[in-house]
Amino acid sequence: MIDVLVEAHGPNLGARGRHGAPLGLGSPAMAGERIEIDGGRIGLVLGVGTDGRLHQLGLGDQQGRQPDPAFPVSLFPLALPTHGEEARRAPALRVTHADGSPSLRLVFVRATAQPHPFGQEHRIELVDRVGGFEVAVCFRTWPDHDLIEQWVEVRNGDDAPCTLHQVASASPALGAADPYLTHWGGGWANEWSETTERLVRGTKTVASAGGVRSSLHLAPVVLWSPDGRATETDGAVLAVSVAWGGDVRFDAEIGPHGQGRLVAGLQHLGAERRLEPGETFASPPAVLAWSDHGVGATSRALHCWVRDHVVRDGNRNRAIVFNNWEAMGFSLTTETVCAVIDGAADLGAELFLLDDGWFGDAFPRNDDTQGLGDWVVDARKFPGGLGPVVQHAIDRGIRFGLWVEPEMVNPRSEIYQAHPDWVIAEPGRERREERQQLVLDVCRPEVADFVLEVIDQTLALHPEISYLKWDANRDISESGSAVLPADQQSHLPVDRVRATLAIMDEVARRHPTIELMLCASGGGRSDLANLARFHELWTSDNTDPVDRVRIQWGASHLLPASVLGAHVTRWGQRPMPFACAVALSARFGFDIDPRSLTGEERETAAQAVATYRSIRALVQFGDLHRLVSPIGTGRGALAFLAPRVGEQRGTEGPIAVVFAFVLDNQEDHHTASDDGRESPVVSVPGLDPDRRYTVVDRTPGDVNHGQAFTALGRDLAATGLQWPGPGWPSAKVWVVSSHR
Ligand code: DGJ
Repeated sequence: MIDVLVEAHGPNLGARGRHGAPLGLGSPAMAGERIEIDGGRIGLVLGVGTDGRLHQLGLGDQQGRQPDPAFPVSLFPLALPTHGEEARRAPALRVTHADGSPSLRLVFVRATAQPHPFGQEHRIELVDRVGGFEVAVCFRTWPDHDLIEQWVEVRNGDDAPCTLHQVASASPALGAADPYLTHWGGGWANEWSETTERLVRGTKTVASAGGVRSSLHLAPVVLWSPDGRATETDGAVLAVSVAWGGDVRFDAEIGPHGQGRLVAGLQHLGAERRLEPGETFASPPAVLAWSDHGVGATSRALHCWVRDHVVRDGNRNRAIVFNNWEAMGFSLTTETVCAVIDGAADLGAELFLLDDGWFGDAFPRNDDTQGLGDWVVDARKFPGGLGPVVQHAIDRGIRFGLWVEPEMVNPRSEIYQAHPDWVIAEPGRERREERQQLVLDVCRPEVADFVLEVIDQTLALHPEISYLKWDANRDISESGSAVLPADQQSHLPVDRVRATLAIMDEVARRHPTIELMLCASGGGRSDLANLARFHELWTSDNTDPVDRVRIQWGASHLLPASVLGAHVTRWGQRPMPFACAVALSARFGFDIDPRSLTGEERETAAQAVATYRSIRALVQFGDLHRLVSPIGTGRGALAFLAPRVGEQRGTEGPIAVVFAFVLDNQEDHHTASDDGRESPVVSVPGLDPDRRYTVVDRTPGDVNHGQAFTALGRDLAATGLQWPGPGWPSAKVWVVSSHR
């Protein structure tokens, strides 16, 4: 019964073990070994029980992670539950041994720690009590960022092969007094649709699928609120993201006695592995952030860490990109592209991105039915090659970028006709096409070389190409690889991701100055493993700014605004001021035919560019505060604040930018904010209450553009700023500076 009690109370209840030196493998004498993983605002305390096993004693902030000394360690939840150990609970690790035995019973061997430049790396070694299967539970702490990374390494220490069915990255036991899970998914043009649900007894599984555009289906991050649904500023919450470039899976379990646990890792179904004697396998890392004061703090921790340690050149300004996909499609000529470049330069764009359609010879890429894989410039569209258009952009003072989709081919291409065996396929089965294309099998060394050559040769087209958009527009089906033996075809889901990431690493090594945009039919690759090889990503093909407010809101739970491409387009035919305001709240850009702009629209766009230049540092590197949730409501508001803005005195330049969006025609202008209270105004948080600020209306194209007033910080927090309107959709962009 006490077991039930301890687990039912979650990880914050527990026993403080004696500190004892390990004597024998998993022997009771090892009991008391205690390992503290300190990631600042998040930490874990693990202990070895008298059963020799590794238990989780606490998780949370400094206070919360301290276990209750009243309970023996062995009664706490296992830190890494294996199949066969907790018969009624979901496992995080499952192996079938050579003799057919399906269980593991892990006992503690040793724990070591060593510093890394920003924290500690911990390695806790366990071994199967019966066989020689070895496990290391690994952590990397980031105390300055309030984060922990966790992963699990396994090694087949037996002398016969075994089958590894599952090894999760992390499996924290969690409080479940009133548990809620938030996850995001959707599909093409519908990424980051939020679901928050109360967890009930049983296991709620959310997983991505498809292997390539995994995040279209499920974003690789979830939130667990143990004690009632956390708001932006209140309540306990754990954010967990699995940094993996393929399918991920989260099992949120409420056990038979109400115990909570989240098992997070790559999607293991269909990805079983044969492990040879002595062979190791490491799960991808999961990153964990904790807050006792609402979700906003976990997002800010993730943003800062992603900029500092994940995305390439994360603290460098992102350019204002002018993409031509929605404006031009496949209809390209030297003259039309140069005309659009002129328009882009006139608006103040800093980089022109030539999208799909520039290539193909025998199979010209005039639509998406053919040409993919034949990376030669289409001489019918560009008789002089790409040189004239690249040079035109450079002459107009803007950089040049190009679209590629190097992992895919159309069967109607010269490359496929020469190498039909290069694609992922199963012998004797139909090669099903999506978007008329097939996926190259990058596990084949010659195919990986081809993909690298595609990048090399594309960049060699002109020395001034400084940016590539790397797209991927279909998922995996008929998941077979000619390089894998018949009994190891299930290795493909993992091996293909690893091979792709290795290619991306090599591209970054060969071309360190080239900036890369990650795209997979929009935000299909919104994970931290792919992003670590790139500079930014294309958030969604859905550029209707009404939808984009919600999509960008969802994405901001993992990703900083600096990496979220947001372009002003005609999608939804929304008013230009509104479209500009929404794009200004992320990594701003355009995808619109400049020749179609009215004089008024042109003026609005120019104001937007000028505004972005003045707020770019705030949006890209400031602290995000989500103020009013647009999920399930008709309004949204957010602010970016300069770090530690409340302490700043006499600061030059803007220190906050506030965005407010009215998204539908609801009569009631009083909106329920995410914490359930009414939001008649947009309150600005984080300012010095006694300081006077200047607030300038910088809404592009607004009749009040440029108008200013002053107010005390306390008044901006209390009486706030007025919602835009009347009319919808409408927006306001206010820039706040210290009053001088
Ligand atoms: C899908 C991308 O998401 C779009 O932005 C565009 O690049 C097209 N592919 C081009 O085919």
